[in-house]
Amino acid sequence: MSINTKPLTFPKNFIWGYAAAAAQIEGAAFTDGKGWSIWDTFAREPGKVHNGDTLDVACNHYKLFKKDFALMAKLGAKNYRLSISWPRIYPNGTGEINQKGVDFYNRLIDACIDAGITPWVTMFHWDLPQQLETDFGGWRDRRTADAFATYADTIVQAYGDRVKNWITLNEIVCFTRLGYGNGQKAPGLKLSDQVVNQTFHTALLAHGHGIRAVREFGGKGARVGLTDNSEIYIPLTETPADIEAAKQAFVTANARVLEPIYRGKYSSEYLREAGSDAPVFEPGDLEHISRPTDFLGMNVYNGQFVRAGKRGRPEVLPYPPSFPTADAAWLRHTPQALYWGPRSVAEIYGVKAVYITENGAGYFDEPEENGEVLDLHRRDYVRNYLCELHRSIRDGVPVKGYFLWSFMDNYEWEDGYRCRFGVVYTDYATQKRTPKASAHWYTEVMKQNAIV
Ligand code: NOJ
Repeated sequence: MSINTKPLTFPKNFIWGYAAAAAQIEGAAFTDGKGWSIWDTFAREPGKVHNGDTLDVACNHYKLFKKDFALMAKLGAKNYRLSISWPRIYPNGTGEINQKGVDFYNRLIDACIDAGITPWVTMFHWDLPQQLETDFGGWRDRRTADAFATYADTIVQAYGDRVKNWITLNEIVCFTRLGYGNGQKAPGLKLSDQVVNQTFHTALLAHGHGIRAVREFGGKGARVGLTDNSEIYIPLTETPADIEAAKQAFVTANARVLEPIYRGKYSSEYLREAGSDAPVFEPGDLEHISRPTDFLGMNVYNGQFVRAGKRGRPEVLPYPPSFPTADAAWLRHTPQALYWGPRSVAEIYGVKAVYITENGAGYFDEPEENGEVLDLHRRDYVRNYLCELHRSIRDGVPVKGYFLWSFMDNYEWEDGYRCRFGVVYTDYATQKRTPKASAHWYTEVMKQNAIV
């Protein structure tokens, strides 16, 4: 008998691309008038970032962007999610605009489009201007959301003729809870639950301003959404009871962000649990936060297993010690997250278009003697996740695109340069780029619009 492989093909017009963020790749941290970001400060505090690595040079994409786009195009990418550095545009976060910063992104966006690659632009990917932290307490204070409003207006007006896909904020929980709650990320503070809840609220206000800016100045065909890293819950078994338990776990865990955005209110469950730690807000805030969006971006790396416990209540299971992870120890090998994540938001909130704005794997890659980087583990990791994404589309989940994190190895925040997420190897000493085995494989996926 002969058996043929049936390719797992994606829908026509499915978007394939790469994702990255300004601070992690650009370098030139103090060039052409850029102001300090909270990450420039944080990286200089002893013991905060692995090896004391800073963002000063990174991949020197600030200088090398044309070459980088040429390589990206050669590898077959047609879409690229990039971010704009707020302190390049407003060195102090507010006030004086830095024309050299505005010009830089004009050149960058033009070069991207000239290379045949459509830019998808994130307005804020964690590099908050230090001055806003110093003067206002950063995300603790709504004046930061007001400053963001002006910044969003500026960049949408500057680039909206060429940029049609906008993402307001990247992963709210990471720059709020991890920045102000447990101190793992910049600005590295360990403050009360009330303060943390307030930082979420300020971020949501900024998100509302990002939507407003795109509606006001984005021009024809402009679309906007948030990128969230929702906690994802995988039913231990695909039975109605476990599926329902996972759904409940999802709603509870993501209430702080998704309920205000999609339902225009904080849920009673959340407010009850927060008690006197609930965020303080003003009339009109929730209408502003829940302005309709065009899509939801999801960054998907992990899922947690859930089963129906007593009276069907969700019981979230801990990962046993030997559960497979990438070298980035937080990154569990849970491909089903790419099935259940999009499905959860479509089922619970009726989201009509989901883009996977990040998925990928961090390892401590080293080139072989012949210079090749044989990252079969990353290749396998991504491939397994894509199979689950394909399954979600097959089941009717409206997933419209996928952006692999990341194009080249870059600054992995508090993990510094050691942990590599690129499918292109960055030699930081020479700034040479070498496509890894996974890059060649992904080229074929994009080209065939199918898992190969
Ligand atoms: C989430 C963040 O958006 C990105 O900046 C980071 O590098 C990747 N995930 C990998 O951790």
